[in-house]
Amino acid sequence: MIYAANFKTNHTRKSTENYIEDLQRHLLNKNSEDRVLIFPPLTALDNYEGDFTVGVQNAYPVNNGAFTGEVGLEQLAEFNINTILIGHSERRDILNESQEDVAKKFAFFKEQGFEIIYCIGESLEVREQGLEAVMEHLLSQFEGIDTTYEHFMVAYEPIWAIGTGRTASVEEITSTHDALKKVVNKPLLYGGSVKGANIAEIAAIENVDGVLVGGASLKTETFLELVLH
Ligand code: 13P
Repeated sequence: MIYAANFKTNHTRKSTENYIEDLQRHLLNKNSEDRVLIFPPLTALDNYEGDFTVGVQNAYPVNNGAFTGEVGLEQLAEFNINTILIGHSERRDILNESQEDVAKKFAFFKEQGFEIIYCIGESLEVREQGLEAVMEHLLSQFEGIDTTYEHFMVAYEPIWAIGTGRTASVEEITSTHDALKKVVNKPLLYGGSVKGANIAEIAAIENVDGVLVGGASLKTETFLELVLH
């Protein structure tokens, strides 16, 4: 299993340092084949070492240049970052990233050999129309994306399940992941209100290869409940 922690706009440099120190101590007990990835805010990047990978939640697809407020490859290289989340619904919906923007970002970081966790997900309105509509929407989010790229995994995060406490049902996750796996034969993570109370049933789903976690990843205790479940 892959356990990925997306801190979003939470934690400081200092609290991330404490978190990682605490986490690393407990990771000695994790299954050796499981992977842990941490996506802290950009200001908390550092040269961390341990049995986990640190990636970024976003970056601008340039080496460097005049892009006020953005961070490019040069700034990531300082911390040996080569893992990135692309296409998160919060960036698509709140920061107005279009599919074209997302695809450009994907192409750039693919060219750099980054490991890419590519996020897709539908709104409640689409989910209520049934699996066929959901798949049509999800497949449209692969437009311009090379799904055969070697260092590529997909995070399926239904928007209506993010931060709402309302997890998708086992049936919904199973049918969506089964359909996705037929199209993209890569590791598939589920995200959306994953927590200690539901990790066992989610992790047991055949085509769930990992989880991408927001809220429950913010404290080491609640994240470790997932990693060590
Ligand atoms: P929550 O786990 O808080 O629902 O967030 C999921 C998510 O968006 C991870 O990227």
